[in-house]
Amino acid sequence: MAIFTGISKALGGTETEKHQPQFYYGLVLKNVLVTGASGQLGSELKERTSRMNLPFRFFFTDVDTLDITNINQIDAFVAENHIQYLINCAAYTAVDKAELDVEKATMINATAVSHIAQTAVKYGVKVIHISTDFVFDGTSTVPYKETATAQPLSVYGKTKLAGEEALQAAAGEEWIILRTSWLYSTFGNNFVKTMIRLMNERERLTIVDDQWGCPTYAADLAEMVIHILQFTEEQEWRSGLYHFSNNGATTWFRFAETIKKLAGITTCELIPIQSHEYPSAARRPAYSVMDLSKTTSTFNVEIPSWEKSLERCIHKLQND
Ligand SMILES: NC(=O)c1ccc[n+]([C@@H]2O[C@H](COP(=O)([O-])OP(=O)(O)OC[C@H]3O[C@@H](n4cnc5c(N)ncnc54)[C@H](OP(=O)(O)O)[C@@H]3O)[C@@H](O)[C@H]2O)c1
Repeated sequence: MAIFTGISKALGGTETEKHQPQFYYGLVLKNVLVTGASGQLGSELKERTSRMNLPFRFFFTDVDTLDITNINQIDAFVAENHIQYLINCAAYTAVDKAELDVEKATMINATAVSHIAQTAVKYGVKVIHISTDFVFDGTSTVPYKETATAQPLSVYGKTKLAGEEALQAAAGEEWIILRTSWLYSTFGNNFVKTMIRLMNERERLTIVDDQWGCPTYAADLAEMVIHILQFTEEQEWRSGLYHFSNNGATTWFRFAETIKKLAGITTCELIPIQSHEYPSAARRPAYSVMDLSKTTSTFNVEIPSWEKSLERCIHKLQND
């Protein structure tokens, strides 16, 4: 990905330093709050920013240190630490569980985002929020643009769409929403890690072959988020809704076949099945490939293919 460079430094910030402005080469560092930082995307952000020189001071929090459903906690944290950017990686992401846990999913994915929007407006904080391809109903046959109608099929998709709408309605021009899809990482639990484990344990696996989408390496999404911060500092803030996945399209079955090949597994037979043969609580879109052209042209980035990024992730999993 094309990354803007510059004089910069990433700092974590200790308790004693917390309320002092931090400087690097005479520049006052901008304070960035990351919520849900123990998840896949948050962990990738933490790892990458610790290795880069950036003009930002990052505050990584998760539900134990900052619960986004508590508006008083968000307000106090933002005010006390003079936060200028908020990256919301926190979410209720258990798609099937959400069907029965509507209240909690709504609280985290929608109500809390409305709290974040209110706080952003109050303190002039710029928000980068992450949403999902599951806002679409999957009836399209061409990649979804940001202007396409969102019509979620699941509770998860509905709550994420409600979060998007709350942010857009309340946060003036202070928001950027990145919709992503089929996220995986070396951190946390995800399809890639589950497949490698199951392929090593079982003789055969059945995998859905009629749902099309695009896998996204959370490390690439983390780079995109950092790129937007740098782009804003060096050029301008470009508020709006954007799609970000890796490039290309595949089915879960083809994704699994590629995982098997790249991981060098020769023993497990993979069998393609249809969605109706694998009943799940939540309905998923049959097609949720997203058009990336607005993102690539607005932020001047090149996005790697899903195969290339998967190769990087599996290499890291096998060598770290
Ligand atoms: N994973 C995917 O395939 C996928 C696909 C499309 C879009 N997305 C979106 O991408 C974003 C990042 O996803 P991810 O996979 O990195 O998610 P993740 O791994 O599930 O991480 C989410 C984090 O948020 C935390 N959290 C939950 N409730 C919270 C609260 N009230 N306050 C603060 N933190 C809270 C979670 O803690 P606990 O673990 O303790 O609950 C977890 O650490 C999310 O917005 C998600 O909707 C994900």
